[in-house]
Amino acid sequence: MEIREWCHEIPKIELHAHLNGSIRDSTLLELAKVLGEKGVIVFEDVAHVITKNGRSLPECFKLFDLYHILTTDHGTVSRITKEVVEDFAAENVVYLELRTTPKKNEAKGMTKQSYMKAVIDGLRAVDTVDVALANSDSSTDYCLEPLPINDTQGRIRRNKIYIRLLLSIDRRETTASAMETVDLAMELKDAGVVGIDLSGNPVVGEWQTFIPALKHAKQLGLPLTLHCAEIPNQKEVQAMLDIHPERIGHACFIEEEEWRRIKSAKIPVEICLTSNVRTERLHSIDDHHFVDLYNSKHPLALCTDDCGLFSTTLSNEYYLAASTFGLDKGQIFQLARSAIEFVFADNEVKEALRNIFEAAERKLMP
Ligand code: IMP
Ligand code: ZN
Repeated sequence: MEIREWCHEIPKIELHAHLNGSIRDSTLLELAKVLGEKGVIVFEDVAHVITKNGRSLPECFKLFDLYHILTTDHGTVSRITKEVVEDFAAENVVYLELRTTPKKNEAKGMTKQSYMKAVIDGLRAVDTVDVALANSDSSTDYCLEPLPINDTQGRIRRNKIYIRLLLSIDRRETTASAMETVDLAMELKDAGVVGIDLSGNPVVGEWQTFIPALKHAKQLGLPLTLHCAEIPNQKEVQAMLDIHPERIGHACFIEEEEWRRIKSAKIPVEICLTSNVRTERLHSIDDHHFVDLYNSKHPLALCTDDCGLFSTTLSNEYYLAASTFGLDKGQIFQLARSAIEFVFADNEVKEALRNIFEAAERKLMP
């Protein structure tokens, strides 16, 4: 089997995916058309950005702003959640930790709570074709159990997908708003929320603003993953490490001294190759810190970040790693499997994932 196809076939674990960044282009186009007809936006201004492959950096950010104009009602939030899960499942992702920023929108009667309810409703709407699951009790209501789902052609796939949620704090938020998100995450623990993310435009916001909420999360036992060093900011990186995050994302501009700390504490790094290239965090993918981390056996996981925005898939990220860094099938499979140890879900899920990979190894490894 060709390596590209094989990267699609192997089970994969996605730990860094933003809901709104993962929307299908076709859905964005449809939503933009409706808003264009209502005169909220000029459809022609955005259509070519949505359909374009290989967007420039300013076009990526234009699209981000557009996402939040297009997805402001509950029904749309549920719809995109359902579609994003279906798309990851179609890539043979067996565990998805989907992150999203709970949003308020008074005009639509949306609170952070109701936004999250819409997300959870979207998870529940994923085609559950398994009779046993359909008849089961409320513990499966929030996708705490893996869901068998249809692929994009409507065929039933045998693979199941575990879904967990991370609530994101946007760097634009106030301390009070960030605290509210952490409390909400705690309230929704039984609904599959397993941790907190800090994300948003890296040039915006002061680290001090987020400390109370992040410490609060720690005290409540909620694991943290932080967008770290997307731009050079050594002081902030040091402060981030002081809080002992369970994982960090990107880690593009880390100085020697901080790498030492990250490596000795074995903090898993979420690596988003396409995202880093597209947002011009490095000159060339060949210079990516993946190489150093991989060679020094540091814990890492390949992730998509925003598969809609960056026109990628998790299978593609694995293919990219294989073709760029010369990894063979055995190394790629082991890389995919090693991510089990970094998920925020409990040991029962980890054990189930180990079994999935064991079965896949028998089937797919030469
Ligand atoms: P949402 O949280 O579901 O609305 O997903 C989109 C949001 O994720 C954006 O508004 C950003 O706050 C965050 N995000 C997505 N990609 C990145 C990234 O590369 N760096 C920092 N934040 C990001
Ligand atoms: Zn991200």
